[in-house]
Amino acid sequence: MKETPHEFAGRIVLITGAGGGIGLALIRAFGKRGASIVAADLTTDLLARALEEARAVAALCHTVAGDVAEPTVCQLLVDAAVERFGRLDVLINNAGIGGPVEPVCQMDLDGWNRTLAVNLTGAMLCSRAALGVMIPQNCGVIVNIASNVGKRGHAARGAYVVSKWGMLGLTQTMALEVARMGIRVNAVCPGPVEGERVEGFIRRQAEVQGVTADEIRAEWIASMPIGRMITAEEVAEVVVFLASERASGMTGQSVNITGGMVMH
Ligand SMILES: NC(=O)c1ccc[n+]([C@@H]2O[C@H](COP(=O)([O-])OP(=O)(O)OC[C@H]3O[C@@H](n4cnc5c(N)ncnc54)[C@H](O)[C@@H]3O)[C@@H](O)[C@H]2O)c1
Repeated sequence: MKETPHEFAGRIVLITGAGGGIGLALIRAFGKRGASIVAADLTTDLLARALEEARAVAALCHTVAGDVAEPTVCQLLVDAAVERFGRLDVLINNAGIGGPVEPVCQMDLDGWNRTLAVNLTGAMLCSRAALGVMIPQNCGVIVNIASNVGKRGHAARGAYVVSKWGMLGLTQTMALEVARMGIRVNAVCPGPVEGERVEGFIRRQAEVQGVTADEIRAEWIASMPIGRMITAEEVAEVVVFLASERASGMTGQSVNITGGMVMH
């Protein structure tokens, strides 16, 4: 099956964390293929960036502000999609925070709980609300933005690592639950993505390890067989594929986008 230029025409795509680096790339990637977007993020300022991005590719875009750790907000996002566009075809659970950068022996419980609440419980709550629409529709796709550390440990990133491992378990579980209902659920596991977020982690990791940010950046790049970080566009292209009919045979998968850093 070949990609067609407007393969998401008439499709409604809900993207959480839409004002961040990967979220904006997702808006561009789906918008230019004809999708209408529901963009969700914490604040209206972040959503202003999302709207600009959608306008640049002439996509219809409805924005909703709120915290995905709140069950009422997740329901509101899905209700807003249905109210504005009449249906919901694709949910992308992309909202996420990095969480505390500290070893487990010093773990701050509030930081741990907040990370799991946003990254994992938020994805479950948005999926629960979306499935309430997708099951009666008998179709739909969910794509979870996990991480390469959803498949391996990472020192000083315990809360984030556990939230992303959990996301892969959630992906497989939901995939099995809805496989016969015309709904597919997959995840992607990106490696470090160029941009503000990674630069922030690099600075914090450097502080924890008592080395320079340049040393940490060089170490991360050296761990990537392709010799560079991933781009947000590369992540978005894989998500588009998973959300498209071209991936109709795939569910319960976690696809690495790591430049060869993770191969299982
Ligand atoms: N950047 C990377 O290297 C990388 C690698 C692997 C996975 N990821 C994952 O990709 C996703 C997007 O990351 P990004 O790089 O675009 O980061 P980002 O920080 O630029 O974007 C994340 C967005 O999520 C939003 N968000 C945070 N908490 C929220 C909440 N409680 N409710 C609603 N929205 C909330 C933020 O406001 C932000 O706009 C995250 O889930 C992240 O864990 C990123």
